[in-house]
Amino acid sequence: MSIRVEAITQRNFDDLPGFRLHPYSCKYCVYWESTGDLHDRVERTEAEKMKREWFRKVFSGFGNSGLLLYLDDVVIGYTQFAPARLFPRLKEYAAPISLSNSVFLACLYLPRRELRGRGLGKLLLDSVTKNLKSRNYYTLATLAKKQEESSELGPVGFYLKQGFKVEMQKANYSMMLKEI
Ligand SMILES: CC(C)(COP(=O)(O)OP(=O)(O)OC[C@H]1O[C@@H](n2cnc3c(N)ncnc32)[C@H](O)[C@@H]1OP(=O)(O)O)[C@@H](O)C(=O)NCCC(=O)NCCS
Repeated sequence: MSIRVEAITQRNFDDLPGFRLHPYSCKYCVYWESTGDLHDRVERTEAEKMKREWFRKVFSGFGNSGLLLYLDDVVIGYTQFAPARLFPRLKEYAAPISLSNSVFLACLYLPRRELRGRGLGKLLLDSVTKNLKSRNYYTLATLAKKQEESSELGPVGFYLKQGFKVEMQKANYSMMLKEI
């Protein structure tokens, strides 16, 4: 059994998880990259194009902004991160995370439930922080929810375990920060 983490590039973009029907699949999810209800309305092919284009553009300015976790050459984990200003959806959350040297973790996800709870989420998050530290980014921010499962926000409990602190609490979500 071999595990590896790869940066998302145009070459491996097709490996992004396609576990559920559009629009909830990572490859076709443009929730953070859009505003309003566009992510529900956009056609699957167009969504995939938007997603690919986001990674291409962000790569040329910020650099690597996502990782894939492979188990025996099959993708089992996905994560996406970049400075807050590159995620238009954040404007809809009252979250002051445009701190100059912070990066917003938009998604960290293991689609297959049977693979959760085995340390793989932590491994993927550790890969994100290692990657960012090497590029002189020292604060990682995310939005999380108390409920176990949400299509947009990860679980508060997991991030607390990983050393994040609740910076701001709203009725439906918390903004969390970690100095890395
Ligand atoms: C959140 C997620 C990435 C965590 O990955 P994971 O592999 O299941 O978690 P790990 O096994 O690495 O857990 C690491 C630690 O966090 C804890 N943890 C994991 N999930 C937790 C949760 N939901 N609540 C509280 N603690 C949690 C584990 O118990 C473990 O603690 P330990 O170090 O004391 O043993 C994964 O469960 C997932 O993808 N869940 C769905 C998330 C979601 O819906 N996201 C929205 C889309 S972005």
